[in-house]
Amino acid sequence: IKWQSPIESAKMYFERFEEEKVPLWTNPCIDPRHRIITPPSINCSNLTLPNLLILGPQKTGSTALANFLEIHPNVSQNSNVPGSFEEVQFFGGNNYKKGIEWYLSYFQQKAEIVFEKSATYFDNPLAAKQASALVPNSKLIIILQNPADRAYSWFQHMLAHKDETAMNLGNMTHIFEVSKNNTLAKKLLNRCVSGGKYIHHLEKWLEHFSLSQIMFIDSDVLRNQPIKILSKVTEWLDLPYFDYSKVIRFSPSKGFHCKIDENSKTRCLGESKGRKYEKMDEATRLELDEIFAIDNSALFKFLRKSRLEIPGWLRKLIK
Ligand code: A3P
Repeated sequence: IKWQSPIESAKMYFERFEEEKVPLWTNPCIDPRHRIITPPSINCSNLTLPNLLILGPQKTGSTALANFLEIHPNVSQNSNVPGSFEEVQFFGGNNYKKGIEWYLSYFQQKAEIVFEKSATYFDNPLAAKQASALVPNSKLIIILQNPADRAYSWFQHMLAHKDETAMNLGNMTHIFEVSKNNTLAKKLLNRCVSGGKYIHHLEKWLEHFSLSQIMFIDSDVLRNQPIKILSKVTEWLDLPYFDYSKVIRFSPSKGFHCKIDENSKTRCLGESKGRKYEKMDEATRLELDEIFAIDNSALFKFLRKSRLEIPGWLRKLIK
């Protein structure tokens, strides 16, 4: 046995237990031993943590859902986070290292349902593990969109952001052929499709949360009948009835539903949500359907076995 300074001992410890370098945050107010040593900045008698997480995935209408849901008088969303499209993106990412106090600072407003939407969570297994450590009883919402449409929307997103590979391809049609010998195109295709392998990502969440904590939403219904979805969500969350038809209306110019503000003006999401682009051609759809065939079929079986509603697009694909 040899004496080492605390810093040296810590270095040795983390060399040996590399996986512990990133701490796993739990609620400091639950365990009395932790409660005693929590810094005064964490007020255990008035702690607000989210009890609902909207996991995404990206491009499925998650921003619209969050934007509408927060209108309910008994619901509050995290305050704005500069530079990350209002998302806290705490679990599974770099912000996690900023600690619980940083996370808590975005939840100052108490409500029956306090939620955050970070569309980066769904396809990140670490997010599942870290979320279950801090908010194990939280409810989760996952939006299921036909993954072919989601991949196409992602490609459009990359085009809008002037991604060089997407710009060189021009449209998605050629990506399948080109990606066979081109690493950049392969990488881009992978980015477009990886989030849509729903069952694969869902399994990771189910290692940490029970199925009864999860609500699945059909993205097409959310887009076309948001009020119907919001009624289901509020019921599932045990919230009092709220008449969303008074605060949401369809905007013909936007082509989507939008909020109605206090002056009766329509307030739609920004132009990066609900972009205008060419319809997907049949050849691209066939390629994408093939890529997702195994995952879609597994998702169908899973939902049927769990006696959960099967989204219309999935029913159509698996005949
Ligand atoms: P597109 O821009 O490709 O049409 P997310 O917020 O999860 O990233 O999803 C963005 C997608 O939400 C948009 O993709 C759009 O199709 C969809 N969406 C659904 N309802 C919407 C609404 N009311 N306003 C804007 N976009 C909406």
